[in-house]
Amino acid sequence: MSLSVVILAAGKGTRMKSQVPKVLHKLAHKPLLEHVYDTAIQLGAEQVVVVYGHGGEDVKEACAHFKADWVEQEEQLGTGHAVMQALPVLNLDNEILVLYGDVPLTSVNTLSNLLNLNNDELSLLTVILDEPTGYGRIIRNESGKVISIVEQKDANQDQLAICEVNTGILSCNGHKLQRLLNQIDNNNSQSEYYLTDIFKLAAGQGIPINTSNTENKYEVEGINDRLQLAKLERIHQKNIAEKLMQSGVSIADPSRLDIRGDVEIENDVFIDVNVILQGKVKLGSGTIIGANSIISDSDIAANVKIKPNCIIENVTVHSNCEIGPFARLRPETILSEGAKVGNFVEVKKSNIGKGSKINHLSYIGDTEMGEDVNVGAGTITCNYDGANKHKTIIGDKVFIGSDTQLVAPVIIAEGATIGAGATITKDVEADKLVISRAPQKSINGWKRPEKNK
Ligand code: UD1
Ligand code: CA
Repeated sequence: MSLSVVILAAGKGTRMKSQVPKVLHKLAHKPLLEHVYDTAIQLGAEQVVVVYGHGGEDVKEACAHFKADWVEQEEQLGTGHAVMQALPVLNLDNEILVLYGDVPLTSVNTLSNLLNLNNDELSLLTVILDEPTGYGRIIRNESGKVISIVEQKDANQDQLAICEVNTGILSCNGHKLQRLLNQIDNNNSQSEYYLTDIFKLAAGQGIPINTSNTENKYEVEGINDRLQLAKLERIHQKNIAEKLMQSGVSIADPSRLDIRGDVEIENDVFIDVNVILQGKVKLGSGTIIGANSIISDSDIAANVKIKPNCIIENVTVHSNCEIGPFARLRPETILSEGAKVGNFVEVKKSNIGKGSKINHLSYIGDTEMGEDVNVGAGTITCNYDGANKHKTIIGDKVFIGSDTQLVAPVIIAEGATIGAGATITKDVEADKLVISRAPQKSINGWKRPEKNK
């Protein structure tokens, strides 16, 4: 049977004390709501319906890339009321799964287990908590069948002692769900339409109720404040790190690695402490990431050595390159096999050819560099004239002396040698030596000034 997922996301999130709607707060750099949406997609949902709150246009806008139906719940009259808002757009021939926009870490595995319980009845995910205060309690009869859920505020002493609680996550045949929701009212201590009331109704009408359970409490934990957000972030990061280690990646300290995106990391990669990987990052086998490095949206091949304190963004690095320490590689840079970019070097939108070296204190921007080029310390491509960017082209085997400025647009043909301290404003022919510096003079009889007494 096909699946429709309803994500409840109308909550205000007062306790976040934020201008930003709660479900747009980020875990691993991704909005909470998007975690839940991605889970729905991974479950193969044919339809996703997001119920958002009054004034929640920000949410819709931030998640405009979702393939989802958006339904506004103008007033928050309860979880049952929220699901009712989705009924007119839901494909009721489907099985309906209810998820929550502020519960980001429910696994596909746990939800598949729930969905596999039945296809046509009512199923509920429960969890056993040592400290159940605040949650709806699961009431079962002598034969263990669920007969109702009682909210904290409506429960008596005996019911409050029950530790099996409602996670809120349930699935039901669409038509049955509609019929049950049409029968609920708001005669309770909070004057809300409780989604949980459908269980008592179902039990009374002989609709079987199945439950499944999860051992991982974090999977059903909702986020109400920033402390809970930070707690779930750490759990999520630990889970990712453990998976990577199991797949053959070495991590110096799993509690000091943050992964905020989709990574593909091959085996025998070593990641030192305080590393952040953001967006889409690929790391090839045997590559080493030094401490305090931040890598985003980059493809790093095998056996690359990234020394500590590098910032690398939107870059392609071929195998056997060496980078850093303290290097900054900016977008659209490509390092070919075996290239070296050393300390305090910035490279932007440039192709660095095989085996070429820029080892110290340089800026290379908008440059096409051939193979086996040696760039001396303190070399600067002057790519910007104040209005436009210009290209520097450097041929194979060029040698650039230290403290050189290459004023773009300029071409240094292959095999040329630039003497140290040059300011190159005209194209340089192949294999020539070019110097541009004031001749050295010695002044006879010169005396250093002395302080007046
Ligand atoms: C609900 C359950 C409770 C369960 C608990 C798990 C009901 C009546 N109670 O209680 O049994 O143990 O969740 O956390 O369902 N929401 C809307 N619109 C509304 C009301 C809520 O979208 O009108 C959304 C909220 O944004 C939130 C979720 O539904 O994501 C749960 O709402 P909340 O008010 O926190 O329910 P609880 O009282 O905690
Ligand atoms: Ca809650």
